[in-house]
Amino acid sequence: MPQDSTAANLLALNQKLLNAIFAADWKTYEQLCDPTITCFEPEAKGHLVSGMAFHRYYFDLGASKSAVNVTMAEPHVRVVGDVGIVSYVRLVQKLGPDGSPITAQCEETRVWQRQGDSWRHVHFHRSLP
Ligand code: GLY
Repeated sequence: MPQDSTAANLLALNQKLLNAIFAADWKTYEQLCDPTITCFEPEAKGHLVSGMAFHRYYFDLGASKSAVNVTMAEPHVRVVGDVGIVSYVRLVQKLGPDGSPITAQCEETRVWQRQGDSWRHVHFHRSLP
């Protein structure tokens, strides 16, 4: 598969993952992730979290009532053998407490591993600006 097609595929998978997060679509999120996924994210307060249970908590709370649009700004994809690294600034458009549209941003790096015929999400790091 040419490198450009791989990069496009990884971007599409990553967008699907982000959409699943904001839709609280656990089934899709679980399908895309390796069960041993690791992460650093602000919710983990500086700890490396392993596995899916930590993430399930937020999905069980349900999706936001507000309309949400999530964008990967200036995404960069690097493929190293069977590993794909997707880095971008995540922009989330939503309604603020007063009902006006606001945009939140954070930095994300998500790592994907080719496992057989598919890619699985194996690690991510999210930082707030
Ligand atoms: N907190 C779940 C994720 O960002 O993948």
